[in-house]
Amino acid sequence: MKKRIALLPGDGIGKEVVDVTVEVLKTVAEHFHHQFQFDYGLIGGDAIDQKGNPLPEETIAICKQADAIILGAVGGPKWDQNPMELRPERGLLALRKELDLFANLRPITTFDSLLDSSPLKKEYVNGVDFVIVRELTGGLYFGKPSERITYEGQEAVVDTLLYKRSEIERIIESAFEIASKRRRKHITSVDKANVLESSRVWREVAEEVAKRYPEVTLEHMLVDNAAMQLIRSPKQFDVIVTENMFGDILSDEASMITGSLGMLASASLSSTGLHLYEPIHGSAPDIAGKNIANPVATILSAAMMLRQSFGLEEEAKAIEKAVDNVLNSGTRTADLAQGNKAASTKQMAEEIKNALADDH
Ligand code: NAI
Ligand code: MG
Repeated sequence: MKKRIALLPGDGIGKEVVDVTVEVLKTVAEHFHHQFQFDYGLIGGDAIDQKGNPLPEETIAICKQADAIILGAVGGPKWDQNPMELRPERGLLALRKELDLFANLRPITTFDSLLDSSPLKKEYVNGVDFVIVRELTGGLYFGKPSERITYEGQEAVVDTLLYKRSEIERIIESAFEIASKRRRKHITSVDKANVLESSRVWREVAEEVAKRYPEVTLEHMLVDNAAMQLIRSPKQFDVIVTENMFGDILSDEASMITGSLGMLASASLSSTGLHLYEPIHGSAPDIAGKNIANPVATILSAAMMLRQSFGLEEEAKAIEKAVDNVLNSGTRTADLAQGNKAASTKQMAEEIKNALADDH
């Protein structure tokens, strides 16, 4: 199989984790006799420094010519004081909008060998297996106006939570599609319907869509309760569907079930079929450039790409199994080493490559 993959490493540890993920993908290509062509694009802070734009036109073009996209992370203190339009995060938000990447899938599963790494008790996290489906192109992060204003004669500020009904419908449909293929076929739709009108419409739409999926059970949960339930009994969840900001916050929280932000992969699916894969963590300026970041989230995102975008199930499983084997062997990056000797980013990836090779 011949595929073009656009690589957008971005800033900070984004570059480090994407670099080693490419090495893992090259190993997969070699063992399974595929050809992957990698095309690099600038996004985020580096793009601002070099092109004066967090999402240069060339980057969009590179993405559009590709079969799938892998992104590292954007941002860093260097650009924190920049005006809004010259912030690295703008590049990522603009890319999501430009490519209509509306559904962000974040699987939360535990690894047997990491059960001790979660701050939660083993018996609570053992067997956790759910997916957060987060709306990614609407809501508070995109609504206009978003600005400082004068209100009732005072300095004030406004952000806007805006959703078209069709946008709510398509994300909830995506969640039902996913749930209908899972064993438990259960959806928890998370909102704040006791306060927000947007959440009341969200509930209405969820009920409507549910009628078309009689085999799936739908439950509604308020977001504050959901935040608590994720810690109290995470095993109750199968598929969680929620709007952009709630999903952002809940998925970082859920990462702690697994033990580290550095373990969690994600896929951002578009209406066009061109999907983007990225770790859920950011550019981690506190550890950038030290070769200590955990690359597993990005490597597992690449596995999601092979499965979802290219239909390469066996190859995806091979990566997941290699990661599992390496963790079972005791190798840990610093985020999971609990003070013991830690493997570097490169060593971790190298072991995963070796485990892949051993298997074939
Ligand atoms: P972060 O996710 O970058 O880091 C949070 C904490 O987790 C840090 O202590 C970091 O060292 C640790 N961490 C994250 N990924 C890790 C990994 N792979 N291995 C080991 N440790 C890891 O979030 P933070 O610090 O809030 O944001 C830093 C920058 O990243 C900001 O500029 C922010 O805007 C940006 N950001 C970008 C995202 C993206 O590109 N998708 C998402 C979240 C934040
Ligand atoms: Mg986040």
